[in-house]
Amino acid sequence: MTNYLKEPRLLHGGDYNPDQWLDYPDILAKDLELMKESHTNTFSLGIFAWSALEPTEGEFHFEWLDKIMDDLHQQGCRVILATPSGARPAWMSQKYPEVLRTNAARQKMLHGGRHNHCFSSPIYREKVAIINKKLAERYGEHPALLMWHISNEYGGDCHCEYCQENFRSWLQKKYGSLKALNDAWWGPFWSHAFSEWSQIASPSPLGETAVHGMNLDWRRFVTDQTIDFFEHEISDIRKLTPDIPITTNFMADTMDLIPFQALDYEKFAKHVDILSWDCYPAWHNDWELTDDLASKVGFIDDLYRSLKQQPFLIMESTPSGVNWHPVNKTKRPGVHLLSSMQHIAHGSDSNLYFQWRKSRGSSEKFHGAVVDHDNRSDNRVFQEVREVGSAMEKIQAVKGSYKDAKVAILYDWDNSWALDDAQGFAQRTKRYSQTCQEHYRYFWNHDIPVEVVTPNANLSKYDLVVAPMLYLITEKSIQHLSDYVQAGGHLVSTYMTGIVNENDLVYLNGWPDKLQEIFGIEIEETDTYYPSDKNTLVFDNRSFTVKDYASLIKRGNARALAYYQEDFYAGRAAITVNHYGKGEAYFIAPRTDADFLEAFYQELVSKYDLSNSFVLVGDPSVSVQSRDRNGRPTFFVMNFSETTKTIQVRNETVDLLTEKPIGKEIHLSPYEVLILEVK
Ligand code: GLA
Ligand code: ZN
Repeated sequence: MTNYLKEPRLLHGGDYNPDQWLDYPDILAKDLELMKESHTNTFSLGIFAWSALEPTEGEFHFEWLDKIMDDLHQQGCRVILATPSGARPAWMSQKYPEVLRTNAARQKMLHGGRHNHCFSSPIYREKVAIINKKLAERYGEHPALLMWHISNEYGGDCHCEYCQENFRSWLQKKYGSLKALNDAWWGPFWSHAFSEWSQIASPSPLGETAVHGMNLDWRRFVTDQTIDFFEHEISDIRKLTPDIPITTNFMADTMDLIPFQALDYEKFAKHVDILSWDCYPAWHNDWELTDDLASKVGFIDDLYRSLKQQPFLIMESTPSGVNWHPVNKTKRPGVHLLSSMQHIAHGSDSNLYFQWRKSRGSSEKFHGAVVDHDNRSDNRVFQEVREVGSAMEKIQAVKGSYKDAKVAILYDWDNSWALDDAQGFAQRTKRYSQTCQEHYRYFWNHDIPVEVVTPNANLSKYDLVVAPMLYLITEKSIQHLSDYVQAGGHLVSTYMTGIVNENDLVYLNGWPDKLQEIFGIEIEETDTYYPSDKNTLVFDNRSFTVKDYASLIKRGNARALAYYQEDFYAGRAAITVNHYGKGEAYFIAPRTDADFLEAFYQELVSKYDLSNSFVLVGDPSVSVQSRDRNGRPTFFVMNFSETTKTIQVRNETVDLLTEKPIGKEIHLSPYEVLILEVK
């Protein structure tokens, strides 16, 4: 961790938008009072403050920010200072319309909302550089400054002429010649070969959407262009404040609770010093159980932590509800502590909120916040925030600790994008991210720590690597997997693996030879089911449902562990294992329900000795994760259910929040979290 937080405390606080309240001095004074009372210590300032900082072009006002920075410092708080590029003042859009985005249908957007600037616009870049430099010069040495928060939730794309030009140059650099581009994009299909670079334009509902190689390159370009803009934003900041870490807040695709799809965070993570993300699950929704939701949050936490192999930050969350879910339900008592501790258990060094005080007007006036319109501290939400703050103080020594895992699940953005595009199979059931989460679920249920990493990661430290549905896989990644298994690793793959290369071109002459070697099988075809179609397989004398997809394999050296029972492929192998080098490679040919994954991974976990060493008898709704505190493990035991639960563990412990001793049988009330250390 080269440039990490220089602050001993876990960060508790959040987005503070005093620029909305400059005409309310009583409120600003009250904020400071309430901050003390809430056990908060860190605030993000200036995220959308451009019109307060530069109300007209070239006229800068920092006095208000000076005062807030000083006030926060005086009461021992740290500041995460934002650059304001997430939204811009009206004067800029009016005078320089080029800063506004052009959508895929080539419509120039009007001023409004936020996050709708062009990442290529030279004027936007110039304006951002000016204000960012001023912020760095003015506050670089300020004792409250802890970290930079660059822009806000980067996302989206722009299709203006600047962006088209940049896309074409990006392609030229990548392919060198039009011949190479046409080959990669399968140009002759529907006569889509290009004879001039200038004919190429970004995908559009009014134009091209069918060239999958192009769609994939556009998404890659958008990631690169966003990172390029980010690098532009930080260039003076890095020079002026080399020791202040830099982050930008990442997201998830929140309603589905899957990793954010619009940007390749594997690439982006390399450019931030600390990865932070904004997490807004729909707790208590009417379509899933609390533990279903919690395990998905765990998956994303594990992915974002693993991307940098260091602790991450929760930059935004809500102490109650949000304002943009279809139904904005508030967290039930206890769930705020539980959900905050879950992130810390998975490696977060913070719990920060959007936002400190509820806005009075505009679209977020009913979004959950620490301080409500009532301006009081004696309400439930404020008191639960306070409880989180004091709990964080008691366990602050976990800060900075990072726990390795022996199990990895592979997740890949290129693959997700290519699978999304792929026609064939069944549009509604492909569900790549969800499938990764279903495999993850076994390990979450059994409290086995997992890292979620990309196929490029160093796999040698894992005893088990699970790689569901790697439909797009490069030859290099295939070699990487081969090396891992050869050296003694244990690999699990599934149906829909190894079908296209990095250009989304199908591998010719059957399943790639190297994959055939690793798994000791060949794939003949993949059957796609209607939702009402089912098959069965028998594994360990138990029968399990097969649904959605079933690959038909020809066995080479692999041993069959299960066979299909029905249809024209009854009797053919459905699950196989192959000894390869010093390792073993398993192949799950059909999609199954969770009960099969439970039985299957149970065998692997006992065979490779991967069970949790603290938990003796767990419960699927009770998640146990651990971090280190002064070199000793700290266990977070979390009940993600509405009923009382009991689990058994190997050691007696002490509850760090109450200092009470806890025996080997642990009882948890609904939504209870205990933080324990072995005596
Ligand atoms: C995002 C933004 C915040 C706020 C919250 C509301 O995370 O970054 O500014 O709009 O959503 O949930
Ligand atoms: Zn543009």
